[in-house]
Amino acid sequence: MRRQVCIIGGGPSGLLLSQLLHRQGIDSVVLERKTRDYVLSRIRAGILETGMVNLMREAGVSERMDREGYIHEGTVIAHGDDRFGINFKDLTGDHVMIYGQTEVTRDLYDARDAAGGTVIFNAEGVTIHDADSDAPYVTYITEGTEHRIDCDFVAGCDGFHGVSRRTIPLDVRREYEKVYPFGWLGILSETPPVHDELIYAGSDRGFALCSMRNDNLSRYYVQCSLSDSPEDWTDDAFWDELRKRIPQEFADQLITGPSIEKSIAPLRSFVTEPMRWGRLFLCGDAAHIVPPTGAKGLNTAASDIHYLYQGLLQFYHEGDSEGIDRYSEKALARIWKAERFSWATTNLLHRYPDQSPFDLKMQKADVAFLRDNHAAQTAFAQNYVGLPY
Ligand code: APR
Ligand code: PHB
Repeated sequence: MRRQVCIIGGGPSGLLLSQLLHRQGIDSVVLERKTRDYVLSRIRAGILETGMVNLMREAGVSERMDREGYIHEGTVIAHGDDRFGINFKDLTGDHVMIYGQTEVTRDLYDARDAAGGTVIFNAEGVTIHDADSDAPYVTYITEGTEHRIDCDFVAGCDGFHGVSRRTIPLDVRREYEKVYPFGWLGILSETPPVHDELIYAGSDRGFALCSMRNDNLSRYYVQCSLSDSPEDWTDDAFWDELRKRIPQEFADQLITGPSIEKSIAPLRSFVTEPMRWGRLFLCGDAAHIVPPTGAKGLNTAASDIHYLYQGLLQFYHEGDSEGIDRYSEKALARIWKAERFSWATTNLLHRYPDQSPFDLKMQKADVAFLRDNHAAQTAFAQNYVGLPY
């Protein structure tokens, strides 16, 4: 098989790139290690920056998102019983869209099917060959048979545990990482959200987040120990802890119900540089990870896809390699700012095991400054709705 672009990974990054390229007459193939159902079973965040919304529109995949998504013009920040709102619309003129990543991925799969796109599932042993040459190729195995795809470019959209990043030699790669000493225990419940906006809450007991997917599907998180497992937490224990971490006015109106999903995610900041090696380009979680506090996971993948998509258009339509030559530089410039926002927001609202009384005073002063200062709120809002591409 020969394709112009071979995309490794059938998550949101890979599917969005494939669909965008298709609409410009650039052919691609997506290699996915798992099954479609497995990919769609993953529960991920659901905050879309306007940049991601615009890419979905450009990909022709926005009809259900525009119909079912929710516009959010602000959020609530709380610390103990102290709470305040940050109005994105007033401060930036922009907003975010609430639309689950699972639905984004589902819509992209449906669009690839409708366009006759090629997504190869259960692709095992994916190996990238000659990425640092002008004739790269990719091999993979399905049903015991090895296959080869010759291509012009390889897009590594295969997530943190994928093969793409590891294809770049260690003496070329520079990796930066911070592992946080806590995780997020998350549940989904078929209950009405406790509030019409998200609530990011810090407390002496730790962080909590009240989010949602729709009017009767809520998503809640509490910071937990890395030694915890979901089985350690009954639903009642979760609800009790959540009530203790959010302002009383919200705790009193919380509607609880059985969890339909319960999982623990570790928190990590990670970036690999460069995001390009020869004809291989890393996108999304293959290149970087953020703690979910700033809701930047999918949105940083989106800006990578934007830069790579524009670079490939410039190459194929104008014969100019400037865009792909500057891909890594442009993608990383935005990635590091999102890493900073995610790291800072995590530090603002989480309890660290080794915090001193002075550290706690500094944390409370940070929250108070965000509460009282227009410039601080504007900076938070600009980061949350998404910095320019
Ligand atoms: N070969 C083929 N496919 C692979 C391989 C491999 N060796 N390794 C991983 N994959 C697949 C995974 O099964 C997954 O479906 O690549 C896909 C990567 O998808 P994501 O991990 O969702 O990463 P990405 O598409 O960059 O999306 C980033 O998704 O994980 C969230 O928080 C993240 O919101 C962010 C967004
Ligand atoms: C979610 O709805 O899952 C969610 C929302 C905001 C975040 C993280 C997760 O910052």
